[in-house]
Amino acid sequence: ISLKNFNTFGIDVNARYFVEINHEDDLTELFADEQWKQLPRLVLGGGSNMLLVNNFDGLVIRLNIRGIEHRINHEDVFVEAGAGEVWNDLVNYCVDHGYAGMENLTLIPGSVGASPIQNIGAYGVELKDVFESCRAFEIATGAFKVFTKADCKFGYRESVFKSELAGQYIITSVKFHLSLKPNINLKYGAIEQELANRDITEPTIKDVSQVVAHIRVSKLPDPSTIGNAGSFFKNPVIGLGEFQALQQQFPDVVNYPAGDGQVKLAAGWLIEQCGWKGKIVGNTGTWKNQALVLVNHGGATGEEVYNFSSQIIDSVYHKFGVTLQREVNIIQ
Ligand code: EPU
Repeated sequence: ISLKNFNTFGIDVNARYFVEINHEDDLTELFADEQWKQLPRLVLGGGSNMLLVNNFDGLVIRLNIRGIEHRINHEDVFVEAGAGEVWNDLVNYCVDHGYAGMENLTLIPGSVGASPIQNIGAYGVELKDVFESCRAFEIATGAFKVFTKADCKFGYRESVFKSELAGQYIITSVKFHLSLKPNINLKYGAIEQELANRDITEPTIKDVSQVVAHIRVSKLPDPSTIGNAGSFFKNPVIGLGEFQALQQQFPDVVNYPAGDGQVKLAAGWLIEQCGWKGKIVGNTGTWKNQALVLVNHGGATGEEVYNFSSQIIDSVYHKFGVTLQREVNIIQ
């Protein structure tokens, strides 16, 4: 089966076996059969954070568990959603019902089940800010386990599901803690500016959601027309000493405090300074409005995109002495 329609990069590779999971019980049934446990596995949500480099000689598991439920307790709202729900549909559902907390995360591609794995984040908010717990299936034992926020060990684009427990669990649902009382987050300056442009002085969560959508659409390519997986690299975090030396040489270097004597750099800026912004190389390249996003201009292979990303890493290292880490999952 071709995976072209199951990854937002639009890379055309084949999977040996493919199964769709609609209920938690489907997982129990699938892994009761030892033969499936032995195979290489790829769990797919929206396929929006991966680069498929080769044909996949194993089992692709597409999570399609649906359903959204909510419970209100005074001002607190607890929303539980199936892993297969589309992330942005959940955001819209919450914004429409007046459940505040996720509005800054509008229009992030991908599924609910994938959201904790890399602690998705945008415009001053991270998933961990609204996360309550998640349910996950342990492949080795067939047991379901609940992970609290502390269990998940969230960091910048990081969680336990990417590190020590990588490949061991399949997330089946996620519970969020939202509020009926909005706490508008305007930490990201462009939101405030766009609200001002619209003469909005007392923004609702709907206003924030609409402004975030506007900013995203203006900067980021729409994966339904131009294949991409959002930011291809992480923003690198370096020590203060290293940063000060860099700033001496490049006074304009874009940076944000990252706590603990650490500084976060804007990878998009580093890449742009190396002359890559908007460059087209074969069927791939970087996006014209956001150099951190690699795109498939049509017919790109995973290998082509991967090699291009290596070229960027080399050139940023050569100029700045900083090593970019890939943020998308590379599936070899
Ligand atoms: N910049 C440039 N040139 C570029 C792009 C960016 O100079 O081509 C500089 C600008 O100074 C800009 C700064 O970098 O002000 C930051 O850019 P932007 O606000 O677009 O955000 P980002 O740091 O590039 C991160 C996330 C995005 C998220 C935005 C907004 C990562 C890896 N990426 O990007 O998340 O939407 O912030 O909060 O942390 C994703 O993870 O897929 C993603 C899109």
